[in-house]
Amino acid sequence: MEEKLSSIAKSLKPSPIQQLSILAERSNAVNLAEGFPDFPAPSHIKAAAVSAITSDFNQYRHVQGICNLLVDKMKQMHGLDVDPLTDIAICCGQTEAFAAAMFAIINPGDEVILFDPSFETYGTCILMAGGVPVYVALDPPYWTLDEVKLLEAFTTKTKALVLNSPHNPTGKVFDMNELEIIAEYCRTKDCIAVTDEVYEHIIYDNVPHISLASLPGMQKRTIITSSLSKTYSVTGWRVGWAIGPSCVASAIRNVHIKVTDSAPAPFQEAALTALRSPPEYYISLKTDYESKRDFLLKLLRKVGLQVEFKPLGSFFIFAAIPETCKLTDVEFVEKLIKQAGVVAVPGCGFFHTEHDRHNRFIRFAFCKDDATLTSAAHKMQQLVDASGRLRFL
Ligand SMILES: Cc1ncc(COP(=O)(O)O)c(C=O)c1O
Repeated sequence: MEEKLSSIAKSLKPSPIQQLSILAERSNAVNLAEGFPDFPAPSHIKAAAVSAITSDFNQYRHVQGICNLLVDKMKQMHGLDVDPLTDIAICCGQTEAFAAAMFAIINPGDEVILFDPSFETYGTCILMAGGVPVYVALDPPYWTLDEVKLLEAFTTKTKALVLNSPHNPTGKVFDMNELEIIAEYCRTKDCIAVTDEVYEHIIYDNVPHISLASLPGMQKRTIITSSLSKTYSVTGWRVGWAIGPSCVASAIRNVHIKVTDSAPAPFQEAALTALRSPPEYYISLKTDYESKRDFLLKLLRKVGLQVEFKPLGSFFIFAAIPETCKLTDVEFVEKLIKQAGVVAVPGCGFFHTEHDRHNRFIRFAFCKDDATLTSAAHKMQQLVDASGRLRFL
């Protein structure tokens, strides 16, 4: 039977992360690996979901009110005018919105530019749609965009470019200067931009979140994807969206209907409450995460990891193994699980180019309860030598 599998299915291999997860579960390790919260979702949003279920929102459903609220959000955050009837497709999370966007725009052989390191699902979705991912390495330690490398990535086959800001795994937030460079190439090379803005509200140190779509001439060539998942700590609810020019939004909706029909009805209803959250909600989301970031950053530096780049957004720290330590990222995480009882993610899974430091980074997630973070700190501190560094570093 195996020979009957499609070539794309054969190419999808379990990552080293999955094996480490098994080891972590067996060792009952404190989990700083997974990019989702281990604390409760806001009660006003949960109450709305419970009420939707008791009110029998059980059938296939498109909740137009979500589109209306997204229109207000796009205007308020980015000054964009979006038509609620034509320019938005509600999907099952950003993941489906992104996949549907790829199926909506990619023909076999079309090239799609991505930055490296990057969130793993983009490349796979591009391949499934018949496209060719073309990676442009960002330069450590600050994950700087090299304009020349970006320019070299464009060919006559380039159809689209993917931008994830705030960025998983590094916590980078692309600044205005970089966005202008990207926008300039998109305009001059007639390239579609697909943005992933799931961390749009999780951003620190008063840095603004700028959508690429808000730059001159970009709205008509940008597909914005995002979701409820990270902003409202409900990654399992599977409600997201794609916003773009009406012909693209309509194509994405058509793909979405063929693949999943609709996002979960009760959670779409609850999205109405989530998207109406008061400004204070977003302020406390940021401040809570900022203090978690600072706590973990201090801990990782103290035990000997190198964090030159302080994340400005998302809820990850991409820490480097110091040069004096010869362990690879996977070996480091194995030791962290077995000896300290803490699990994080080896960085190699996020790299796709021949990056000379592709196995030197570890991703730690701080979207965790303070008790989880404190417990990780205790466990790691029990394993330090006289100089205060982790013994195996
Ligand atoms: C950059 C990024 N995009 C998208 C997702 C998934 O979003 P969703 O739950 O809306 O599918 C994640 C989850 O980790 C992510 O880190």
